[in-house]
Amino acid sequence: MLDTAPQYSLTDAASLLKSHYGLSGDLSPLNSERDQNFKVTTAEGKIFILKIINASEPVVESRFQTALLGHIRDHAGHLPVPHIVPTLKGDSLADTLSVNGDVHNIRLVGWVDGLPLAESSRSLQALEGLGELLGQFDAALQGFMHAGALRDLDWDMTNAGRSKDRLHFVKNTDDRALLERFIARFETQVAPKLGTLRSGVIHNDANDWNVLVGNDNHDVIAGLIDFGDALYTPVIAEVAIAAAYAGLDHDAPISAAAAIAKGFHKYYPLREEELNLLYDLIAMRLVTSVTISASRHAEAEDNPYLAISEKPAWDFLRKLDRMEPLFATAILRKACGFDAVSGASATVNWLKNNRSKLLPLLDKPVAAYPAELVPYGDPTHPMTIKSAEEQPVIAQAMWEEHCAVTGTEVGIGPWGEERTVYAGTMFESKLVKGKRRTCHLGLDLFMASGTPLYTPLDAIVRSVDIEPDPLGYGCLITLEHRPEGCAPFISLWGHLAHEAGNRLKAGDILKAGGLVAYMGDETENGHWAPHLHLQICTDTRLTAMDIIGVGEEAYLDVWAELFPDARNFAGMAEEFYQQSGRSKEEIVAMRREMLLPNLSISYEDPIKFVRGDGVWLIDHKGRAYLDCFNNVCHIGHAHPAVVEAMAKQASTLNTNTRYLHDNIVAYAERLTATLPDNLTVAGFTNSGSEANSLALRMMRVHTGRENAVVLDWSYHGTTQELIDISPYKFNRKGGKGAKPHVYVAKVPDSYRAPKDWAPEDHARLYAESVAEQIALMQAKGEGPGFFIAESIPSVAGQVFMPDGYLKHVYKMIRDAGGICIADEVQVGFGRVGSHWWAFETQDVTPDIVTMGKPIGDGHPMAAMVTTREIADSFNNGMEYFNTFGGNPVSCAVGLAVLDVIESQNLRGNALTIGNYLMDSFREMQNRYEVIGDVRGLGLFLGIELVNDRYTKEPATNIARAVCNVARRRGILMGTEGPFDNVLKMRPPMIFSKANADHLLNVLDEAFAEVTKK
Ligand SMILES: Cc1ncc(COP(=O)(O)O)c(C=O)c1O
Repeated sequence: MLDTAPQYSLTDAASLLKSHYGLSGDLSPLNSERDQNFKVTTAEGKIFILKIINASEPVVESRFQTALLGHIRDHAGHLPVPHIVPTLKGDSLADTLSVNGDVHNIRLVGWVDGLPLAESSRSLQALEGLGELLGQFDAALQGFMHAGALRDLDWDMTNAGRSKDRLHFVKNTDDRALLERFIARFETQVAPKLGTLRSGVIHNDANDWNVLVGNDNHDVIAGLIDFGDALYTPVIAEVAIAAAYAGLDHDAPISAAAAIAKGFHKYYPLREEELNLLYDLIAMRLVTSVTISASRHAEAEDNPYLAISEKPAWDFLRKLDRMEPLFATAILRKACGFDAVSGASATVNWLKNNRSKLLPLLDKPVAAYPAELVPYGDPTHPMTIKSAEEQPVIAQAMWEEHCAVTGTEVGIGPWGEERTVYAGTMFESKLVKGKRRTCHLGLDLFMASGTPLYTPLDAIVRSVDIEPDPLGYGCLITLEHRPEGCAPFISLWGHLAHEAGNRLKAGDILKAGGLVAYMGDETENGHWAPHLHLQICTDTRLTAMDIIGVGEEAYLDVWAELFPDARNFAGMAEEFYQQSGRSKEEIVAMRREMLLPNLSISYEDPIKFVRGDGVWLIDHKGRAYLDCFNNVCHIGHAHPAVVEAMAKQASTLNTNTRYLHDNIVAYAERLTATLPDNLTVAGFTNSGSEANSLALRMMRVHTGRENAVVLDWSYHGTTQELIDISPYKFNRKGGKGAKPHVYVAKVPDSYRAPKDWAPEDHARLYAESVAEQIALMQAKGEGPGFFIAESIPSVAGQVFMPDGYLKHVYKMIRDAGGICIADEVQVGFGRVGSHWWAFETQDVTPDIVTMGKPIGDGHPMAAMVTTREIADSFNNGMEYFNTFGGNPVSCAVGLAVLDVIESQNLRGNALTIGNYLMDSFREMQNRYEVIGDVRGLGLFLGIELVNDRYTKEPATNIARAVCNVARRRGILMGTEGPFDNVLKMRPPMIFSKANADHLLNVLDEAFAEVTKK
């Protein structure tokens, strides 16, 4: 081929220029492998290139190049490429006969000014610009075709496999093995797919001598020249070739390739299947280059042009060989806006959206432990220093001392944290020269060695390895999870006790909640303070050994998809990482200044909650508390069905009851259907107090009386008239005692009944207390207007009335002309499980039922339901109007709550879980003398504590202490009753067996702690 190279003198070239183009000027030769190029500068300062083409080049190819440049001129004339100058005859090509008798085609093109990219620093900005130019160039060529484009070139990416035939020219066996590895990958994984990719005419040789940057600004691409290799081939080859040259001697060659791909993608959107092959194609361009060089060395010993990029090409190939191809591909994909791994962001989202369905990774959900960051992010911290010095025992002792003072139980080493502890050579980056991998890609949980670890999801064991190296993982397990609706992903568990190595093997199936392993101690966990390194990997092609636990900062966005933060998988709360709002101290101070001073706060060290999620309340630092106390969020905090119903109606209409609306009648129909047949008329209010007040208004109109019979220690609401019938208020601090119309009967508390009362007489004997109050009224010539009681007196200490009690009382009241009101504000809506309403357990039907708290799962609404007769009496001409009561939003919420209770059989759940808890409490009672009585039905539960089971001396301090220990251990409950010695529990109706076990464990620990001598 080289024999046919043109060999014209400057004078000859000048005369060709004159004769074909009518131009003259200064000519200087330019470097070229096959052709002869001359830079022409005319007297007017115009610059051209005169190209005398190798005689061996088929005419069709010369014509192809000419047509290509013409196409670009017509379709993308703004691109900085050389534009063709026509001959005097108006042709794009001329020709000439050499002294050897060869015919050479001649072309004159405009000069593109600039500096070769190869001579610049090849900034990422410039490379992105190069990608943009190539993208525009190739996009402009879409649809362009020419017979000359169908060439058979070794430089065609589809012919890269031919490198195998040149391998023997490479003498060094290591070098040959290196090339063989890439060729093998190409043959098996790349070549079969190449034919399926989009093809088009491309430049095919955007090496850094054919690309120009601005003379002054090297970050700007100024031109693309030399179209001698253009052909029809898969389009992605354009990017691969440019990246192969841009990466030569580059500190971060994959970043360089990513910049080109990103720029290209802007104008010629790349496809995932193209990017997935890019790493191999870059490598194969280099393989082609070094093997062609080797073969030419063999032929033409020392043409320096041939070897110009040889050493850097070998270096680059070695770098590519050392790096994980999937990582490189992930970086390239991410640069073009694709997931680092196909489907990775969907997996990340799935974990976020399904976090509440995952089972706890520790004995309790991780968020339920008091947690704190472990200071490995601070290089100056003594613990970090000790750890880096490989003194895990000292580091651990420091941590334990800190935990003992602060009450911390879990140390968190967060994802993405930059750490200095990664000192060994194994942490040197294979992607960026001179950089280290410093950013932690797992989530570390520091706890005592021996802490058991469970899989939050069903899993298949992929690998169980023991890494003996210091600073390795020790025992390392990977699991594969294939949850429904989510692509399979891997979880990696490092620094485990070796015990798992004998118990588990690849292929084993673990059910969600199954034991994975125990945290190892420093003798078996790679010489670290005991902790779990937990990491997610979204690419199931990676093996345990491929998964890096620490990554380069530069690629954190890529690692975030390939190895996403395991926080959701582990059950951490977002609030641990990001806190907002005022400090607790600030809020307390502001409350003191601006709110009523007798607005009470729970716990000496108050809790600031920022989020509710099902059975959990999450505090400002992301600690999750199991809510066993708050019976308002009946079906769970922030229930999605409630939120949705509320939002939908609120965004549609909210008005008052003077206009017609479907919701209020629909809700009245549904609510009354849960009640006995004669309770058919509903009235809606906004709070339990208002419902009770409405009941009193109706009672007064209906009976014409005022007198009340109430149970001792009861509470019915916050308005003055309700305080007046609430001994819990009027008989305690700040109260003024009973008003003349209020008569207080004994609480029918069987546990504290006189010892000489036979249990079967409790109902009758306690009812006598009501009879006595009626007698007192009658002695004054009056009668009762009403009797009101909670169907299970709760403020009085979760007291379950003896069977038949209400039957006796209701009869007495009604016989004396009064009506009976059941306050179901705390106990209603199926909490008892066996029935919708707690009064049903006494086999009575009240005249009025009032309800509130759980009715709206936290939304302020309440109701009273009564008989037609009482409702008609109330209709005495005075309007009943309540601005907010029964509004469309509240009724939509109420409907959603009923839907959930019914459709999820939450009453059944309450009964099952309640029975389980009651059985367990009774079993605990056998172990703890302090438990005097356990009582409950469904999820309305009480445990009464006494210092002496015979005298029943209340163990008030112990009850408060248990409550405080429970809070410290992440469970919310309360104390109640006249002696404040009854532990009160009313968890949400969705409370699960696992939640119940959690509660039982904590109670057990709390009892053990507070009763230990
Ligand atoms: C039994 C009972 N009735 C009525 C009320 C008053 O309800 P609200 O606070 O919604 O006005 C309460 C509140 O604690 C209550 O426990």
